[in-house]
Amino acid sequence: MTETFNIIRTARAIVRVTDLAAARDFYVNALGFIETEADNKHVYLRGLEEQSHHCYVLKKAETPGVEVISYKVAREQDLDELAAFFTRKGMPVKWMEAGSQRAVGRALRVADVSGIPVEFFCQMDTVQRALQRFDLYKGACMQRIDHFNCMVPDVQKAYDFYIHDLGYRVSEYTTTQGDDRIWAAWLYRKPSVHDVAFMNGKGPRLHHVGFWLSDPMRIIHACDVLASMGYAKNIERGPGRHGLSNAFFLYLRDPDGNRIELYTGDYFTGDPDFEPVRWDLDDPQRATFWGHEAPDSWFDEAMGFVDFTSGEMVATTEATLEKTKTGFRHLRSAERALKRPRALLSGRIFSK
Ligand SMILES: [Fe+2]
Repeated sequence: MTETFNIIRTARAIVRVTDLAAARDFYVNALGFIETEADNKHVYLRGLEEQSHHCYVLKKAETPGVEVISYKVAREQDLDELAAFFTRKGMPVKWMEAGSQRAVGRALRVADVSGIPVEFFCQMDTVQRALQRFDLYKGACMQRIDHFNCMVPDVQKAYDFYIHDLGYRVSEYTTTQGDDRIWAAWLYRKPSVHDVAFMNGKGPRLHHVGFWLSDPMRIIHACDVLASMGYAKNIERGPGRHGLSNAFFLYLRDPDGNRIELYTGDYFTGDPDFEPVRWDLDDPQRATFWGHEAPDSWFDEAMGFVDFTSGEMVATTEATLEKTKTGFRHLRSAERALKRPRALLSGRIFSK
């Protein structure tokens, strides 16, 4: 790791919705996001503890799609260094000048090694935080953005790029049984379990955006509120507890099918000698500590990304590794002959 840029944390996502009013009812009235402001094409949302202007943008469009996922950096200089780095790599780069996006300073958009549109920015307008405005608490009492989870066809490739080039660390990871092929990895910059997770699957696609809540009762109360408001069908998976990350979770689909996770209960990872946790893919307690399965939709469906250079949807490819619902996962036949030795994987996992 020779680069010096300092990525701080997961910061925001811009997600397309086809009906702003319907989306606002779901996110603001049912889930308790704070609406910082809106115009006829956007609703800017934030959590109760957030001083940043927004962490989630609903953008009106004819069809769903994810425009960008964003990380905050420490200094303006980091943006220049990131631009130079991606340019050296021959990867797409686009500057968004200050003022071109509501409340955001200049921003750098890039396509990462998996083709995901990623944005970096340093400055965002601040607003009054509402952590102790208990009179504003409602629904799930959304507190702050926490992480992204992306499906990519080659997790090892994404892992190598984020660890070795962008300076992320790994907290937990999943490997296939027997051959130790990496299946999924949870990577962080802030000292939590993750800022971004990469899961093996058709991609690149955004599986979900995770939002942090103060405790599991917020999640259970959210289920009651959602059901009372006619949103029971939007509850896709949970509530439950992940083995991996220890987080208490609930997965929801918004009116356009965009998926978010309500998330609480992970842990501190900031010690330099923190040792990553390894899980077998076929461990039934990995995904859900209580052992029950996720629905097919959770495995199969995810959100497409929009290419910031063409405006078209980013093309997806099938995963390198294949799974079946029954839990028997195997390498695609072409991959069996090419699989890499165990040492290559394990050596990288523990080098930080
Ligand atoms: Fe998540």
